[in-house]
Amino acid sequence: MIRTNFVLLLLACAACASAAPSTTFHKDVEPLLQAHCQTCHRPGEIGPMPLLTYQQTRQWSAAIKEAVMLKKMPPWFADASAHQRYKEDLSLSNLEMETIRKWVDAGSPEGDPKDAPKPRTFLEGWNIGKPDLIVSMPEAYRIPATGTVEYTYLIIPSGFKEDTWVKAAEIRPGNRAAMHHAILFARTPGSKWLAEYPPGVPFVPAARPGSKHRSSDGDRTIEGSLADEWIVGYVPGRRPEPLPDDTAFLVKAGSDFVLQIHYTPNGKESTDLTKVGLVLSRQPPAHRAFIAGVVNNKFSIPPGAPDYKVNGSLTMASDAKVLAAGPHMHLRGKSMLMRVTYPTGESEVLFDVPRYDFNWQQMYAFASPTSLSKGTKIEITAAYDNSPNNPHNPDPTATVEWGDQSWNEMALGTFTLQIDRDADLDALFQKPAKKPRDVAAN
Ligand code: HEC
Repeated sequence: MIRTNFVLLLLACAACASAAPSTTFHKDVEPLLQAHCQTCHRPGEIGPMPLLTYQQTRQWSAAIKEAVMLKKMPPWFADASAHQRYKEDLSLSNLEMETIRKWVDAGSPEGDPKDAPKPRTFLEGWNIGKPDLIVSMPEAYRIPATGTVEYTYLIIPSGFKEDTWVKAAEIRPGNRAAMHHAILFARTPGSKWLAEYPPGVPFVPAARPGSKHRSSDGDRTIEGSLADEWIVGYVPGRRPEPLPDDTAFLVKAGSDFVLQIHYTPNGKESTDLTKVGLVLSRQPPAHRAFIAGVVNNKFSIPPGAPDYKVNGSLTMASDAKVLAAGPHMHLRGKSMLMRVTYPTGESEVLFDVPRYDFNWQQMYAFASPTSLSKGTKIEITAAYDNSPNNPHNPDPTATVEWGDQSWNEMALGTFTLQIDRDADLDALFQKPAKKPRDVAAN
């Protein structure tokens, strides 16, 4: 008996010894880099170094292991165990993380180039197909070599004479290497949001004189609905999320587009000329896409508080489907969870972002839309770190309230709804919903 086991053991060992080095670059790691890293880590993109070849990757192997094991890379912060059904999930599985760890620990062997997958090709040009309309910055914006650039805004009149339905939209940065995110909003006629700034000239909103903590976003964000609509966002490495068929965003006649860009200086002075492509719907669609938010703008984070919680909630007054959702906080934002509780009492997590990163503003799109029937409650729980241990904290001695500057805070969980084309936005959520005026006045 003992003898047989011994022989079997010897046989097993012989098999493993004759196998090629177990984890190699070409066989195991390169396919992962193609699928999870190269959209950003290639020349001209935001990743600080290319990870296309063995030589390029090898010299970074220690940093790669660290970034991957700490889940800093790839940038994907929604915990998959909370909600399994995301589209285009960038994250690595535990098994894939383990592959990278093993490869680095084995001394980053190259392996046989014959095992290499075909190089990945990347789509250049519009992902949404040929746009009907291109909204462009009037001239290139100069990005400094170093320092921090606050969120920069540009107002571009749409010139739309009638209500227009946008089926697909895509932001194409002129300078991907220096752009951390961008968002295109449609500002409805009469809105006071950023009304003091002229169109066509990029600007960084200033704090309003006489106001402690409000300048721009305060007028835009009302509880329940965002009065001036978010049309499309750009985050490095993600393709624009297609809307379901027969669904489009409504841009009212006479609206202005507002482009918000977060530039991140990368060591060389450079310029950016960003364009936004829009595919329009000839006929009004059956459904409207509408981005709404759960907001709490009445909080006060004490100085030094390491884990200050802010909650917010909203209840559906009509039926809708939710297509995507994501957190929005600023530099003290630590984590956010969004949960829906159906009228049956059952509940589900839409996203759980346990380690929020202000630099990566992401919306997480669901593989299949979730139905929110009338009476469904949507809640957010946000946590903030206002202690000196938060390396991003601009001032741990400050009491922090709502405001759009990065040194103020926000507690905003956004989500994209699919609603009837003619749905009454005022009847979407149970009262009390705030009017923009009420929020602007406080
Ligand atoms: C969505 C774009 C994107 C993707 C995808 C991405 N990265 Fe990154 N990576 C960045 C950016 C941008 C930085 C610079 C730091 C920052 O902004 O967070 C970075 C930084 C890094 C660093 C740190 C470099 C340093 O200076 O120490 C490593 C290592 C890294 N990435 C590895 C990876 C690996 C491995 C993958 C895939 C598993 C990956 N990244 C996927 C954008 C990306």
